[in-house]
Amino acid sequence: MFNVSKDFAPPFKLITPFFISGVVFYILSMLSALFYSAGFDFRELSVAGWVHLFLIGYVMMIIFGAMAQLVPVVLETGHFSIDWYYLIFPLLLIGTVLLVAGFWLNPILLSFGGILVLSSMIIFAVDVFLTIKKTSLNSLTVKAVKVSNIFLLIGILSGFLMALTLSGFMGVDIEEILKAHVFAVVGGYVLITIMGISLILLPMFGLAHGFNERAINLAFKFMIYSVALVFAGVFLKADIIKLVGYFLSFVSIVFYLYQIFLIYQKRVRREMDIWYKSMIFGYISLFVSLLLGFLYILSGGGANNFLYSSMWLLFVGFFAFLINGHLYKIVPFLVWFHRFSPLVGKRKVPMLNEMYPKKMAEFEFWFSFAGAVLSTLGLLVSNDELFRGGVYLLFMGALFLGFSLKWMLEFRSENE
Ligand code: HEM
Repeated sequence: MFNVSKDFAPPFKLITPFFISGVVFYILSMLSALFYSAGFDFRELSVAGWVHLFLIGYVMMIIFGAMAQLVPVVLETGHFSIDWYYLIFPLLLIGTVLLVAGFWLNPILLSFGGILVLSSMIIFAVDVFLTIKKTSLNSLTVKAVKVSNIFLLIGILSGFLMALTLSGFMGVDIEEILKAHVFAVVGGYVLITIMGISLILLPMFGLAHGFNERAINLAFKFMIYSVALVFAGVFLKADIIKLVGYFLSFVSIVFYLYQIFLIYQKRVRREMDIWYKSMIFGYISLFVSLLLGFLYILSGGGANNFLYSSMWLLFVGFFAFLINGHLYKIVPFLVWFHRFSPLVGKRKVPMLNEMYPKKMAEFEFWFSFAGAVLSTLGLLVSNDELFRGGVYLLFMGALFLGFSLKWMLEFRSENE
């Protein structure tokens, strides 16, 4: 599967903390979402607290853990310094807790949490760049890894400027910088990373090859232009440039979805396992989120229910299903590589598809699926009961994910 030599593979004990804390943050985000009502305003600091708990604690934490494993696969060389991940993890963990506490309890903590998150991300990006220097490869995925890390640093710096302002140390225009921040981190980092990585993972797990890659190249370019224009619009105070930037992010996602459709058509493996179902729901969510976002723009930016339901579905429908679906592939592989690969040829070793709990994974999928649909509808029609009912189901799904992860990490074969 992951075509990575044993010399390049990071140690098991280095990667698992990222996955464990990522899933714990996911459970906490779903639990804390129960305390919000459908009629929130995204500018409230408590909402920003939830957004960072979910995006940094869960999404970024798992992306970093996965990148520790995937960077050597993509770049075909070992990390510049894998040991730096021992530092990245505690900085990110404590930084996230302080940042969220800053949003929820006391803004003074925002700057301290910000410094720790910023440091962990700088170390992460420096390792990525120094590792890239060791390779001569220049595939789309390599380019995506480069560009996304530049956007990450710019995005985090803009977040840090806002944090310093909220803590009372500076005075930037938060309303404007916020747009640049969101586009840099969500579009420039998370989405470009997903584009680059999905070009490797989807064909690998779906056994698809021989598809045209033009669409994803266009998606990649348009997302870069989009983030660059939103930044230029914010700093030049030119609304029209910002609008073109927003529009290009839609164009980029349309091309990306078209690429996914091309890969889907060429797949050889059609087994409806948990990974496959999660991908299908994830990409349908991205499509619906795009439509809702488009309706928001058509409404002239007045209909916040379209904006909130679009963003919510992007988070709990697209990001969460893509990540959780892949955990059922990546974690068994890590456990297999760590515990069983030394035994190959000496005795019977388990197959990867025996190494995840099928029933629990089904529960996770269906609870989260029903929860994502209901809560998004709740936001769309601004109905508190529907929203909270959906979030409750998402929380149940998150608990099943937690149990599944524990089961997978503790997997031992019968003859042990
Ligand atoms: C050092 C790290 C970071 C700091 C200090 C920071 C700080 C901030 C601040 C101060 C806001 C404005 C909140 C408001 O007034 O409403 C904000 C908003 C936002 N940030 Fe960050 N951020 C950081 C990293 C990130 C990352 C890594 C992501 C995504 C992966 C992210 C995504 C967002 C989003 C989506 C919003 C808009 C949410 C809202 O306003 O409710 N941030 N951030």
